Parts: sequence; C-alpha cells; structure tokens
Amino acid sequence: MSGARRVRELYDEASIRARTEALAAEIAAWKPQNLLVVAVLKGSFMFAADLMRAMHRAGIEPQVEFIHLSSYLDGTVSTGQVKILRDVESTVEDRDVLLVDDILESGRTLAFAKDLLIARGARSVKVCVILEKPGKRAVQLDADFVGFHCPDLFVVGYGMDVAHSYRQLPFIGVVETEA
Ligand code: IMP
Ligand code: MG
Repeated sequence: MSGARRVRELYDEASIRARTEALAAEIAAWKPQNLLVVAVLKGSFMFAADLMRAMHRAGIEPQVEFIHLSSYLDGTVSTGQVKILRDVESTVEDRDVLLVDDILESGRTLAFAKDLLIARGARSVKVCVILEKPGKRAVQLDADFVGFHCPDLFVVGYGMDVAHSYRQLPFIGVVETEA
C-alpha cells in the first residue's frame, strides 16, 4: 500500500523571490536591446511571471512571448526529439532574446529553442532558468542566468509538475511518500 504523499520543501518562497530579484539585476546589467523574453511552456509560467515583474523593478522593459515545446518521451526517458506545440508570434530578428525555462537538465529542450531563434535571426539568445541540475547535460548548452544549482532529484512546484500535478505550489520541493 502506498502511504500519504507530501512535498518536502527545497527552495521556499522567500529564497525564490530573492534569487529572482538578483537574476533580474544580472539581466539588466547585460543591457539587452529590444529585449524579447520567450517563456517555454508549460513549466516556466510562474517563474516567467515573477521574473517579468522583477525586470520591471530592475528598470528594463521586455516584451514577452511563449513557445510550447514538448520532448518526445519513451516511457519517462527523453528520446532527444523536441516538438513545437505552439510557436512564438513576434519576429525575433535583430532582437536580444531571453529564453526562460523552469529547469535545465539534459539541455535538449533549450538547445533546440536556442538554435531555432538564432536561425530566425535573433541578435543574441541568452538562457535563464530557475534551476539547473549539474552533470546532467546530454548536449552542450549553458544557462547564462541560473537561480539555483539543484540536487539530482525530481522536483515539483513553482510551475513544475509530475503527471500534471503540483504546478500551483509557490515553493519548489520533492514528493515523498510517508511510510
Ligand atoms: P531537458 O533539459 O531538455 O532535459 O528538459 C528539461 C525539461 O524537463 C524541463 O523544462 C522540465 O519540463 C522537465 N524536467 C526535468 N527535470 C525535472 C524535474 O526534476 N521536475 C520536473 N520537471 C523536470
Ligand atoms: Mg518544461
């Protein structure tokens, strides 16, 4: 019999807020031109919304777009192929683009998105994630702005899900089953 499930907190709301403000300051120091934020759905929606507000407080005026990508899965293992479920509407030509996602793991999703936007003529493409799992990269892709380097655990909350649940949590944690 499986026991009750609870989420053990890894990064609380106050820590996420503080890191997001610091990331916005780092992004402002980059001095991007005609900045377009491209948030990768679904997982980044909460982080992107908080980061946009923090960018306003940091004195920058980004526009925002959304791209919905999905990795083909073989069971729970990514096959490495990425499919566009919904594309951006604005032109990216000659713009500085900030790709925003929840978590950088194999790097396949963000490498695909970065290559796509560069091929469409973006002036530059930088990557911002709230979490990065060190040592998990399958392709060469580094994030330019990272909230936290996280342990190799399956995390949920703050937009991230397991089987479509837990996205609503205002903190990030690990699902545990109580004995
Ligand atoms: P990758 O970097 O292409 O392997 O894929 C990263 C994507 O996989 C993220 O955008 C998440 O949607 C998902 N993902 C990877 N690790 C986790 C996790 O620990 N919890 C929830 N989603 C995850
Ligand atoms: Mg995702």
